[in-house]
Amino acid sequence: MLNRRDFLKSAGALATTSVFGQSAAYAATVQSRSASTPGRAVVSLNKGWRFHEGDIPMPTVRGHGSTYANAKAGMAGGAAAPDFDDSEWGSVTLPHDFASFQLPEESANVSQGYRKRGIGWYRSLIRLDEADHGKHIELQLDGISTLATVWFNGSQVGHVWSGYNSVYIDLTPFATYGEALNSLVIRADAVAMQGWWYEGAGIYRNTWLVKREQVHIVTDGVFAHPVFADGRWSIPLEVTLYNIRKRAQQVQVESVLIDAAGKTVARFSAPAEVGVLARQVVNGSMRVDSPNLWSLEERNLYSVRTRVLQDGKLLDEVTTRCGFRTQRFDPERGFFLNDQHVKLQGVCIHQDHAGVGVAVPYGVLDYRLRRLKELGVNAIRCAHNAQDKRFYELCDELGFLVMDENRMFNPAPEHMEELIWLVRCHRNHPSIILWSVFNEEPSQGTEQGYEMVRRMTAAVRALDTSRPTTAAMNFGQFEPVNAAQAVDVAGFNYQYPSYEAFHQKFPNVPMTSSEDVCGYQTRGAYLTVPEKHIFASYDDDAASWGTTHRVGWKAIAEKPYVAGAFVWTGFDYHGEPSPYEWPSNSSFFGIMDLCGFEKNAFWLHQAQWRKEPVLQLAPHWNWAGREGQPIMVMALHNMDEVEVFLNGRSYGRQKGDIYEMNRWQVPYAPGKLSAVGYRGGKVAKRFEIETTGEPVALKLTPDRGFMLGDGLDAQPFKVEALDAKGRHVPLAQHQIVFKADGGDIIGLGNGDPNDITSEKGDTRALFNGLAQVIVQTREGTAGTLKLSASAPGLKTGVLHVDVRKAQPWAYQATSQPVQSIGGWRSSPVDPAPIDPNLRAGGTDMNSWGWITPGTKAKPAEQTGYVLYAAEGWLFSRVRKHGGRLEFVEVTGPCQVFIDGRKIGEKTTDAPGPLQMAFPPGLDKFRVSVLCPVKAGQAHGLSGVVRLWSIS
Ligand code: GAL
Repeated sequence: MLNRRDFLKSAGALATTSVFGQSAAYAATVQSRSASTPGRAVVSLNKGWRFHEGDIPMPTVRGHGSTYANAKAGMAGGAAAPDFDDSEWGSVTLPHDFASFQLPEESANVSQGYRKRGIGWYRSLIRLDEADHGKHIELQLDGISTLATVWFNGSQVGHVWSGYNSVYIDLTPFATYGEALNSLVIRADAVAMQGWWYEGAGIYRNTWLVKREQVHIVTDGVFAHPVFADGRWSIPLEVTLYNIRKRAQQVQVESVLIDAAGKTVARFSAPAEVGVLARQVVNGSMRVDSPNLWSLEERNLYSVRTRVLQDGKLLDEVTTRCGFRTQRFDPERGFFLNDQHVKLQGVCIHQDHAGVGVAVPYGVLDYRLRRLKELGVNAIRCAHNAQDKRFYELCDELGFLVMDENRMFNPAPEHMEELIWLVRCHRNHPSIILWSVFNEEPSQGTEQGYEMVRRMTAAVRALDTSRPTTAAMNFGQFEPVNAAQAVDVAGFNYQYPSYEAFHQKFPNVPMTSSEDVCGYQTRGAYLTVPEKHIFASYDDDAASWGTTHRVGWKAIAEKPYVAGAFVWTGFDYHGEPSPYEWPSNSSFFGIMDLCGFEKNAFWLHQAQWRKEPVLQLAPHWNWAGREGQPIMVMALHNMDEVEVFLNGRSYGRQKGDIYEMNRWQVPYAPGKLSAVGYRGGKVAKRFEIETTGEPVALKLTPDRGFMLGDGLDAQPFKVEALDAKGRHVPLAQHQIVFKADGGDIIGLGNGDPNDITSEKGDTRALFNGLAQVIVQTREGTAGTLKLSASAPGLKTGVLHVDVRKAQPWAYQATSQPVQSIGGWRSSPVDPAPIDPNLRAGGTDMNSWGWITPGTKAKPAEQTGYVLYAAEGWLFSRVRKHGGRLEFVEVTGPCQVFIDGRKIGEKTTDAPGPLQMAFPPGLDKFRVSVLCPVKAGQAHGLSGVVRLWSIS
């Protein structure tokens, strides 16, 4: 184990093509998922779900027979039962945030954006091919809000304790193949809360089935993060194998490092023995000479391709990306990447976006991160939880430094698993520089807090010694025993006056702001109107515990020992509309609004964080009625000097203050407000804005020029009103109606925290001149998506977007609702024909057997008759309209009865299918099948039995 100092100095490093550029980034997005390699198939489970909003209480179990059955594997009741009637439920495709469809309601929780949450049930019927038989089948759930219970084929197979982590569940022992369908049921509990912000509700991230050979690499089972030590680069490798075969297996593990040009630059190979149902970790190392480093400017990524072979046969293959870079936090000088000082210009973000809630399509995620790049952000804090897996890939590709954060502060075993998952899942990403174990915990200044953190940092260090741990503390660092003593980098939320005091007292402890600012701004507003819940966008308003953007950055920028800033927040988010409540339902903290449109904090930070000349003036110049009155003009800039003019008349050349920025009072007159910025005495940048006329037309602007016709790609479109000269009209508030031909509108927004209208549908008002519509393509389409935006009195805005043919993800086959008839009992053999109404006695657990239709028919031991019987409630559609009863295969002759009445018969000995009409009008049924059997001859229900509705 490295000591604390060495540890902080130690290198990090990690993989592949660097894609910075709108469309390229999105294309990579799609390809990087649902990728199958020899030996493993990754298929999306996002389609084929049926959904019920609201809870369905479990039925009360009564009677000894039912109580006995209820305690058995595969016998879950109520909506968790495989044969539960969901035929009238609606269909949904994941990701799905059911809270995002809710209108804000005053009776709902302010912190959750006044959206009603609750319980949601999801059910799916999965058809696994015979070819999958013998594979290892794993279910991966990437994010469910907030807690969840998972059943597979009637057995409870998982609990999800975190609304932000992936859960991997081995379904292999429960799975059936061929005609027998598999029932997957998820109850999402979004009454539960793990945050104080909008958390959405339901299965809001992707779901997958991963089908692997029986000997394979476990999920997140390759750790390949390059390290620089003793003047050399190497990749310490850790490959975790698993074997579900019935004997120990000898295999060969081979890893190769591949550069961006596809050239193999290092190799590793080692034999391994993997025990039965055991995990085996294979350790190794690859030396690498002079790799191209990963940096914020050059995102050089490499691929580590790891294979498991047996007698030359490829069993499994995993490709992991990595990047070579060193990192260190210096107590005096802050953060260094590749030995170059980098001041962290960071933002905290939550994961939701306008219109789509937390079910953010990758195209929108990509847009959000590119917006942050444009702003000049180089670091992102995942507040206060893991983000979607794609987020970290994009951070590697676009060049961000990430403070990854654990959600629940709790070292008890089940919650410790969440932290362990976080590190195992993300530790190959070169972008990650810090593991944060908590945010603002009341116990942070106590021995209990310290002891909890001590255990959690130990768990992190057991998995990754190349990045330090931190904890985001808002008090307590000066207590005799406190959480900061158990982490590597002290994290400060706000507490500006304490930066210096802490550094004086603990000069050897590296520190960073983990959260700062908390300024309030409303996009496009220049007057603070408390009764209307509006904040002027001049950076004069901030929360009592925070400060303005200008003061916050100065306090950090001028202290070299503070590694950097993490401004609260990059974007507005639903919920936490502090300091207001109803009708405000999203935050005012963002540098950008909920749609990613710039507030003035955007230009302010861009000026402070980017090197190239920035010069922007606030406010807009449409102040009819205020003629002659002074208007405060603010320049957001990084100039030595700035001069402001109105209609050619100068209002003064000021020495630029890049922290405070510069202000002028300019008496209003319509016309042109302009500014000239100087660097070194020379004009470096100009800016101008004009008073506009009345709006006459609408304009739509896409984020990207093309989209993929894969049914997944989505992008935000900006809509704005223009005057007759084509100028943006800043105060337009028109109600817009959108229409998409060749695509689907999946969300709407306008960045107004006080808007309580729906974010779904096809209409939204402009807010201070802007609104956003998010459109998704349809699977299997190519050609043109036509989007229009119209409002009375304005020329309709029309946009044509090129939709390109694209390979959709591979999806798991699922079935329409069908009632599987299960729970079959078989009578003892009787020499005489058995009454089809005969039942096992209520307390007789033993004389009747249980059978599972679909298992191979066996020869009978005696000659006589056997009665098979199953009973239950009918699906409502069959009840109403009747149906078709299908025996996929019966071996031998038989007669079929419903409630003692014969409805069908098979007379042949050979195995074959049997189908018959099922009458309408029944609620409950008892199907019995009477089979004459002969000693030594096979007979029985050798195929599954199911009931299809006919409507
Ligand atoms: C911080 C907290 C954030 C957010 C912010 C604004 O204390 O860490 O999650 O609540 O305040 O109120």
